[in-house]
Amino acid sequence: MNKDVYVLGIETSCDETAAAIIKNGNEIIANVVASQIKSHRRFGGVVPEIASRHHVEQITLVLEETLEQADLSFKDIDAIAVTEGPGLVGALLIGVNAAKAIAFAHGIPIIGVHHIAGHIYANRLVKEMHFPLLSLVVSGGHTELVLMKGHGEFEVIGETRDDAAGEAYDKVARTLALPYPGGPHIDRLAHDGSPNIELPRAWLETGSYDFSFSGLKSAVINTLHNAKQRGEDILPEDLAASFQQSVIDVLVGKTMRAAEEYKVKQVLLAGGVAANKGLRNRLNESFQQLPDIDLVIPPLSLCTDNAAMIAAAGTVMYEQGKRGNMKMNGNPGLEL
Ligand code: KG4
Ligand code: ZN
Repeated sequence: MNKDVYVLGIETSCDETAAAIIKNGNEIIANVVASQIKSHRRFGGVVPEIASRHHVEQITLVLEETLEQADLSFKDIDAIAVTEGPGLVGALLIGVNAAKAIAFAHGIPIIGVHHIAGHIYANRLVKEMHFPLLSLVVSGGHTELVLMKGHGEFEVIGETRDDAAGEAYDKVARTLALPYPGGPHIDRLAHDGSPNIELPRAWLETGSYDFSFSGLKSAVINTLHNAKQRGEDILPEDLAASFQQSVIDVLVGKTMRAAEEYKVKQVLLAGGVAANKGLRNRLNESFQQLPDIDLVIPPLSLCTDNAAMIAAAGTVMYEQGKRGNMKMNGNPGLEL
């Protein structure tokens, strides 16, 4: 019988200090996330220096809690998977150095994981992956359609040319004076509004799987300003609903077209914006028209940043024999 594989994941790329332990690549044994959102909220966004300080304060506590939850010690861990990039360099460094210290002290192999690979592999904690598959990655920093023909093989077939979807959500939310991060607030408002305000949809050139959200973001801001100048009232709920519909139309439209063109077996949703109820509902509805494609949507807790997803991606790399070394550094520009 094969021995069980336990991988410790560490994620500190942005504003969550997180650690988790995954058994055999798909079973969560412990999952701890310390969010810093409260500290950044009064600045309306993530302040890198504050993020790094919080990570330093939290990382040891989060690791201790993770081992306690799992009822394991470092000697039980087969590999340490850590987010190597992309992200804030000062934030990444805290996780990478913690991983290196543990690896050195206990003689455990270390593996550097791409943050987006982690988001995609969050789905493996829900269901086994079947290739070829397509992943719609929508986070605060990325909007991408990623085609995978096997484990660890990532082909970006479309990406945003300007703002990421989450970034557009956060900027529109700020215009509506909603707290950071704005995505969940727009989602909630949209639910109570009606999409009766005309806004653009950036389909781009025929056949393109790229995205663009900055025009939409500007249209929302202009709509608000023009209404204010004319002394007209716009219901924030309606603006949120119209914005959300425009985002979802394009995300879901392109995902369906790519899924058919590349004849994929599965479509996976990934990233913080995957927590969006409107997007989840529309994907579920739309993929009923493509019953041969298995749509996988992770639970909310695995959509936003966490370390379980990093350990899940790290387990696959571990099994493929990939190893990092003590020269590893935070790499904000790491390629998928
Ligand atoms: O993946 P994530 O936690 O961090 C990055 O890697 O960027 O994504 C954070 C983003 C933020 O822009 C946040 O506003 C957005 O995900 N988000 C949402 C929702 N929940 C989080 N956007 C829309 N609707 C939501 N329910
Ligand atoms: Zn993320």
